[in-house]
Amino acid sequence: MSDTHVLILAAGMGTRMKSAFPKVLHRVAGRPMIEYALRAISALNVASTTVVVGHGAERVQAVVRGWPGVRFVIQEPQLGTGHALMQAESALSGLNGTLVLLAGDVPLIRGATLQNLVAFHRDADAAATVLTATVPRPFGYGRIVRSRGQIMRIVEERDATPAQRNIREINSGIYALKLTPLFDALRQIATENVPDEYYLTDLVSIYRRRKLVVETVSIEKAEEVRGINSRTELAEVGAVVRQKKNEELMAAGVTIEDPATTYVDADVTVGADTVLHPGVTLEGRTAVGTACEIHSGVRIVDSTIENDVTINNHCVITGAHVATGARVGPFAHLRPDADIRRKVKIGNFVEVKNAVVGSGSKANHLAYLGDATVGEDVNIGAGTIICNYDGAAKHQTVIEDGAFIGSDSQLIAPVTVGKGAYVASGSSITDDVPPGSLAVARGRQIIKEGWVERKRRS
Ligand code: UD1
Ligand code: CA
Repeated sequence: MSDTHVLILAAGMGTRMKSAFPKVLHRVAGRPMIEYALRAISALNVASTTVVVGHGAERVQAVVRGWPGVRFVIQEPQLGTGHALMQAESALSGLNGTLVLLAGDVPLIRGATLQNLVAFHRDADAAATVLTATVPRPFGYGRIVRSRGQIMRIVEERDATPAQRNIREINSGIYALKLTPLFDALRQIATENVPDEYYLTDLVSIYRRRKLVVETVSIEKAEEVRGINSRTELAEVGAVVRQKKNEELMAAGVTIEDPATTYVDADVTVGADTVLHPGVTLEGRTAVGTACEIHSGVRIVDSTIENDVTINNHCVITGAHVATGARVGPFAHLRPDADIRRKVKIGNFVEVKNAVVGSGSKANHLAYLGDATVGEDVNIGAGTIICNYDGAAKHQTVIEDGAFIGSDSQLIAPVTVGKGAYVASGSSITDDVPPGSLAVARGRQIIKEGWVERKRRS
C-alpha cells in the first residue's frame, strides 16, 4: 500500500487573470490547467488525491470529477495557500506518510520531477522538502532565503527586502511534506500571521524553529515550474506546450511547415507523413491519420480524419468524421455528426451537418446537407439545399445509392430519393422519388417569340 497522498490547491481567485472563470480552468493547449497537475501526479503511486476548491468550486469540480479517486475539500473564504492546506486537515487526518502538495497553476510540471522530489524527501527523512528553481526573472515568486547553504525561510515578493528580491532561487510552490507534524505546525501560521492571508510558505521558518528537517530539491529546467498568474503567463506557457507538441509530432514523422503558426492541442494525434501547412489549428480530441494534407487556414475541432485525406484551405470542421481518401474544401464547413465516407468529395461552400455522405459521392459546390443519409456514388449538384427544418422540427432526407440531384434543387424533408433516381435541376422536391425515376418539379419553360421587339414598339 502506498502512503503517498496528493493535495492540489485550486481554490484561489486568480485575481491577476481578471476573469469570471476560475484560473485553473483556463486552457493551455486545449486542456484545463488543472488537468496537467492531475496527469503529472499519475506518475506517482498515490493512495489519495484531494483537490482544494473554493472560487468557482462547482465548475472546477465538474471538470475534475471524472478523474478516478479524486475527492474535494472546500475552502471558503479563500485566505491564502496556508489556509487552503488547513481546510484539508480533516480529510487527511489519521494519515501518515508523505503529502505531495502542488498548485493547480503549474502546468509544465512533469511526473518524473515529482517522483524525484518524493524519493529525495524520503531518503533525507525530511519533514518538508521544497522544490526550487533558479530563474533569470524571479519576479512574483517566493524567494528561497538560505543561511550557510541551508534553507531558512521563504519570503514572498511583496514582503521581500530589495536584497531578497535579488535572490533568483524561487519557490516552485511544490512540496513533499511529512504528514505527522504538518497540521500542528500549521496552526502556528494561523496565530502568528497578521496579514489577511495565511502563507503556506511560513511553514519553512516554523519548521526551522522547531528543529525539523527542511530540505530543497532544485530542478535544472526552471521552465517546468512556471506558474500562471496572468494572461501573459498563460500565453507564454501555452507557447511552450505547443512548441513541445509540435516537436513531438515532427519527431513522429509529421511535416509541419511552420511550427510557429501551427496550433495543435495537447490531446490531438497526427499520423506520420501528414503535412500541416501554415496556420492550421487542430483542437480538442481531434485525431488525424497518416499521409493527410491539411492546408492553410483550416480549423479542426474534436474530429476524426482518417488517412490520405486532403483538407483544402479555410475549412472549419467540428465534431465530424472524414474517412480515408476523402477530399474536402476549400471553404467547406463540416459540422457535428457529418460522416464523410471513403473517397467522398466535398467542395467549396458546402456545409454538412448530421449527415452521412456515402463512399464515392460528390457535393462539389455550394450545397447544404443536413439531417440526411446520402448513399454511395451520389452526385449532389451545385446549389442543392436540403430543407431539413420546417420552422418547428428537423426532418430526415434519404438519398439512395447512385442518385443524381440536379443543380439548384431543394429537397424538402422528410423525403426520399430512390436508388439511381434523377432530380431535374431547379426542382423543389416535396414527395418521394421512386428508384430509377426522373422527378421534375419546376415551372415549365415558356418561349414567347418576338416578345422583345413587340415590347419595344408598344
Ligand atoms: C505561491 C507561493 C510562492 C511561489 C508560487 C509558485 C505562497 C504564499 N506563495 O505564490 O512562494 O513562488 O506560488 O507558483 O504560497 N490557492 C488556494 N486558496 C487560496 C489561495 C491560493 O487554493 O486561498 C491556490 C491557487 O488556486 C493556486 C495556488 O494556491 O493554484 C497558488 O496560489 P497563488 O495565488 O497563485 O500563489 P502565488 O502568488 O503564485
Ligand atoms: Ca501562482
